[in-house]
Amino acid sequence: MRIVVTGGMGDLGSRVVRLLVEQGHEAVPASRRTGLDLTTGAGLEAALAGADALVHCADDPSQGDFVTVYGTRRLADAAAARGVHLVHVSIVGIDDHPMAYYRRKLRAEQGIQAAGGPATVLRATQFHSLTAFFARTLTKGPVTFTVGDTAFQPVDTDFVAARLAELALGPRPTAYARATDVAGPDVLSLVEVARLVRAHRGASAPRAIRVPPVGRLMHAYAESRTVPPPGSADVGGRTFAEWLATQPARLTGR
Ligand SMILES: NC(=O)c1ccc[n+]([C@@H]2O[C@H](COP(=O)([O-])OP(=O)(O)OC[C@H]3O[C@@H](n4cnc5c(N)ncnc54)[C@H](OP(=O)(O)O)[C@@H]3O)[C@@H](O)[C@H]2O)c1
Repeated sequence: MRIVVTGGMGDLGSRVVRLLVEQGHEAVPASRRTGLDLTTGAGLEAALAGADALVHCADDPSQGDFVTVYGTRRLADAAAARGVHLVHVSIVGIDDHPMAYYRRKLRAEQGIQAAGGPATVLRATQFHSLTAFFARTLTKGPVTFTVGDTAFQPVDTDFVAARLAELALGPRPTAYARATDVAGPDVLSLVEVARLVRAHRGASAPRAIRVPPVGRLMHAYAESRTVPPPGSADVGGRTFAEWLATQPARLTGR
């Protein structure tokens, strides 16, 4: 099959491309580096030519609505017009979350549904690398600041990539569909994540300072709304600790 992967040179997309190629398929990365700009639609026709399926991993949260919402809708309309199966990656727990990016991801899903073509949306929890980034950002010296008992159920990016590849290679749905959410094997408090990250570089456990939630956003985090309800997600991939063991002592990036 010929499968176009938007954001195919990004963190998630490059893993999808690799997995598809390993399985003998033609995987075509599409992003600004290859001439596709979702903010304008430039290169969209060429990118979709001959595609049997499309995995949408391109995004740029710094661009507000332009890539996440409008770019996704543009892509969904183009895929629907061609009857191409669009497989889209979204985020667990965004139905009622005030974080601006999560609200945009929800509108992106709604745009895909409105486009009316065959589409599958897979929601994933935070990747291990992003969860570690959150913990590092909220740790100042030996102190970790947390809202209530904020927790995550981080997932291995490779596990998400494998599910996206599987969906793209699987049967094309007749309309919009949601796949079962995916999550990693363990629920960890932010403080526990910070402890693991610090231990990984030989530092002592952090002291936790719990800030009471003020406002809708802090309440959403205190309630750990991005952790899927028990039994609702397919759980798999490496644990956070297993992933961390493969990383350099000093983590960088997100
Ligand atoms: N990180 C997480 O924890 C997490 C959890 C759940 C779901 N997700 C979802 O996973 C997806 C991929 O995340 P990621 O971490 O792999 O992102 P990433 O590494 O930043 O890759 C995104 C790619 O999008 C492309 N892109 C950006 N702007 C574009 C534009 N205007 N037109 C076309 N392509 C554009 C970029 O390639 P060029 O620079 O070549 O354009 C980039 O390589 C996102 O939709 C995100 O919401 C992430």
